[in-house]
Amino acid sequence: MTRLKKILLDESEMPRQWYNLTPDLLSPLNPPLGPGGKPITPEMLAPVFPMNLIEQEVSQQRWIDIPEEIRNILVQWRPSPLIRAYELEEALGTPAKIYYKNESVSPAGSHKPNTAIAQAWYNKQFGIKRLTTETGAGQWGAALSYAGALIGLEVKVFMVRVSFDQKPFRKLMMQTWGGTCIASPSTETQAGRNILEKYPDTPGSLGIAISEAIEAAVTDPTGQTRYSLGSVLNHVMLHQTIIGLEAKKQLAKVGIKKPDVVIGCCGGGSNFAGLAFPFIYDKVNGADIQIIGAEPFSCPTLTKAPFIYDHGDVAEMTPLLPMYSLGHNFIPAPIHAGGLRYHGMAPLVSAALKDGLMEAQAIHQSECFEAGLLFSKTEGIIPAPETTHAIASAIREARKAKEEGKEKVILFNFSGHGLMDLVGYDKYMTGQLSDYEYPESEIASNLEKLKGYPLPR
Ligand SMILES: Cc1ncc(COP(=O)(O)O)c(C=O)c1O
Repeated sequence: MTRLKKILLDESEMPRQWYNLTPDLLSPLNPPLGPGGKPITPEMLAPVFPMNLIEQEVSQQRWIDIPEEIRNILVQWRPSPLIRAYELEEALGTPAKIYYKNESVSPAGSHKPNTAIAQAWYNKQFGIKRLTTETGAGQWGAALSYAGALIGLEVKVFMVRVSFDQKPFRKLMMQTWGGTCIASPSTETQAGRNILEKYPDTPGSLGIAISEAIEAAVTDPTGQTRYSLGSVLNHVMLHQTIIGLEAKKQLAKVGIKKPDVVIGCCGGGSNFAGLAFPFIYDKVNGADIQIIGAEPFSCPTLTKAPFIYDHGDVAEMTPLLPMYSLGHNFIPAPIHAGGLRYHGMAPLVSAALKDGLMEAQAIHQSECFEAGLLFSKTEGIIPAPETTHAIASAIREARKAKEEGKEKVILFNFSGHGLMDLVGYDKYMTGQLSDYEYPESEIASNLEKLKGYPLPR
């Protein structure tokens, strides 16, 4: 029998609804809190997001229809292929069957356009003309610029300084799609100027860039600018679930009722949630599935941080979110997986971990780049540094399956390609890359600053 490498769906088989995990959590989600520790109301978010997205943010509805106009754009690259990693399996000599969902086939090269297109469309519907945002590795800024071009919105991106310098081609992608990209911290906002005054040589962080992008949106005197976030929030997780919903249909095509292990890398949590939440739905309904979030050792939000209320940004402009957090002042080491350098974790992913619906692994960047090279030499596609965390975790699980002699089905999310991230590979191959582990004392002293904040249930 000829073996099937790519499991494809027709365009007509693309899911017509997104899945919202909120009603299926074992304990109710803690609400975001505003000034004075009171739950925030949708109206309080209105200067920042359009009301149609705020409605999704607080929705308790399990299934939410994907508007046809959004589906008509998503088919530019969706349904994305599910691929059996035969060559990687062979190299590992594992009895495990490894599958990956290839989200790198999108125009921007990652999973990010799944929500960029949706967010741009809902903003446009609401009469918004301009979006501001932040970007770490540049994937999100590129994705939103692409979405802005297709949907007809101006896009301004604050890009974390260290990535701006490491990844100049991402900026050019944003500009090609008509977006504007500036290094953060910048002198354009009060938040940026404050940081630069204190730390003129800072590599920047997602937390700082978020502060700048929110400030730029809410200070627009025309009121026609809103802010867009590429991860963390409930509506972003929602838009990404198309990944896992497709994967389920694709596994069914090759006779697999359920995977044994599902893996995604975790920055703010969106690609992980996108693949994993539809399987968490099965888990909540009795299926035995191990679900793993893989994160960098140098930014150990899921494995070392406490579950607390914290701000999503450095300048404390966002509401307090219930999440695992290293503290909003945490500036992670400048590792090459820029998209995983975030101090917090999506409230929905945090709740899943707290409820015991998933587990987490922290992996050093050298193990990740080694996994990235093995994957490139076997499966051919060069992964983004973020994605190598999921690959390294899948390799660990495949080796475990070999030791145990078990024919497990391992599914992971291939969140993006690394063709714009080759500087990181160069550093790894020429021995210039070091592993970072934050001293526990530094994490603790950073969290000291949050004393007096309310605590989630
Ligand atoms: C390719 C890729 N994977 C993963 C991430 C991490 O983000 P999230 O955890 O929201 O998926 C990013 C963020 O920039 C990314 O570009």
